[in-house]
Amino acid sequence: MQVMGKHYRTVWMEDDKVFLIEQNKLPFKFEIFSSNDYHKTCDAIKNMLVRGAGAIGTTAGFAMAQAFLQAPKNTWKNFVQNAKKEIESTRPTAQNLFYATDKVYNAAINSPTPIQAAQAAAQNISDEDIAACEKIGELGNTLINNSANILTHCNAGWLAFTDFGSALSPIYKADASGKDIFVYVDETRPRSQGARLTAWELQQQNIAHKIIPDNAAAYFMQNKKIDLIITGADRIAANGDTANKIGTLEKAICAKAFGIPFYIAAPSSTIDIKCSSGKNIPIEFRSDEELLYQTGIDKFGKSHTIRVCSPESEGINPAFDVTPAEYITAIITEKGIFKPEEIENVFKQEN
Ligand code: MRU
Repeated sequence: MQVMGKHYRTVWMEDDKVFLIEQNKLPFKFEIFSSNDYHKTCDAIKNMLVRGAGAIGTTAGFAMAQAFLQAPKNTWKNFVQNAKKEIESTRPTAQNLFYATDKVYNAAINSPTPIQAAQAAAQNISDEDIAACEKIGELGNTLINNSANILTHCNAGWLAFTDFGSALSPIYKADASGKDIFVYVDETRPRSQGARLTAWELQQQNIAHKIIPDNAAAYFMQNKKIDLIITGADRIAANGDTANKIGTLEKAICAKAFGIPFYIAAPSSTIDIKCSSGKNIPIEFRSDEELLYQTGIDKFGKSHTIRVCSPESEGINPAFDVTPAEYITAIITEKGIFKPEEIENVFKQEN
């Protein structure tokens, strides 16, 4: 996607260096972070300099390749096995993380040229992510009518992948095909990925949108302002239950109550066919500081982090919830658009 007229991928690797768009600084500053050490790349995932299912997967694949590059000659197998565990501990809900570490590790561990094999496998994950997201856009566009009002939650745009995005990809394709669309953007507390990232992306693409408070979505649904909802996914279980950013569940329940189609958009790399139901998806809990403090800029452009909650109170901060399959109209993948109950059959051979 374009940023100020220049094409960027969200994450990329050159030689031993991983480069990524520093998402904690957006939308106020556009900066590129780089790392030539897999530990540092792990920290970037953990601290959410890079976030979103596909972007986490691509970065994890590159971190794995860095581990192969950094491994000492005599103990390299042990080194990369430990690195794999370290990378996988960064964001436990994101299926793409495990998809990527497994792919790179398996491609390289028995190869006569492990470093080259790891680098090629990691690059392949990144390229496949782009192709899958573009296809999701084309297929998802068929579900969007001209003049549609679309609600989305969190950020499942190109920043959450290597390019194009999942939930936002159909929106970009609808816009490019000349449809007049409008996007309601849930702010998505506590980290505000909707207000900060999705709104910024849509702004860059000149797509009409407004940010709404998280708790306003039901109001807009009840008042017939929303025609369809598209969100991303962090992990999809075999039965179609889907983990996504906290707050997705209540949007899906409201959508069903008001007869509004609720779509999940995700590449097949987000489907965890070994996970039979959403009950088995691990949910990441993050520091309550994300809830108790907010960071923004003042009118002079100076950044401040301020406490926005009662000084003596603590918080609880689950990062994801699971939407049961019964609330999901369909899942848009690069292989087609499927009912949640079709997922297991369609994808069981793939993993
Ligand atoms: O915690 P994050 O920002 O990494 O959360 C992931 C997400 O951005 C959302 O849950 C998104 O809708 C799915 S990832 C494309």
